[in-house]
Amino acid sequence: MTYSIVLFGEPVLEKQAAPVAEFDTPELNTLIEDMFESMYAAKGVGLAAPQIGIAQRIAVIDLSVAEDPAQKIVLINPEIIRKEEFQTGEEGCLSLPGFREQVTRPKSVTVRAQNIKGEPFEMTGEELLARAFAHEIDHLNGRLYISHVSALKRDLIRRKVRKLVKAGEWS
Ligand code: NI
Repeated sequence: MTYSIVLFGEPVLEKQAAPVAEFDTPELNTLIEDMFESMYAAKGVGLAAPQIGIAQRIAVIDLSVAEDPAQKIVLINPEIIRKEEFQTGEEGCLSLPGFREQVTRPKSVTVRAQNIKGEPFEMTGEELLARAFAHEIDHLNGRLYISHVSALKRDLIRRKVRKLVKAGEWS
């Protein structure tokens, strides 16, 4: 099933998500399939469970947007164990549609996570994948990318969102 994406303003996006404790269950398998489906429907390259209202430490990434199954990545209980250098580039988020900002992130990020069976693995991403790792793991810690932009820009975005909410255009 396709979930609708939770938008900025919902408390679930700004709280710490809980670790997954049970693996290899039909529920977890279905949830992850639904996360990919919801992400593709929204034309995103990454999605964290809180973005569909589920406060669990799960993220999915597919930089190919469903073109190449080999690029599907599932991160459960991920943590960043190494980051190197910096890159600055435009970043957006499905929970903040219509906004994009320059965000500085590590250029290389190594994550340690568990797969759907609970088996631990490590993976290193460079450039766009490093950005996706950092962005999605931030989500699991209740952080949106706008926490990495200047207070001035963040306030501007908040004000614009408030206007959209008032106009009934933020849903
Ligand atoms: Ni996001």
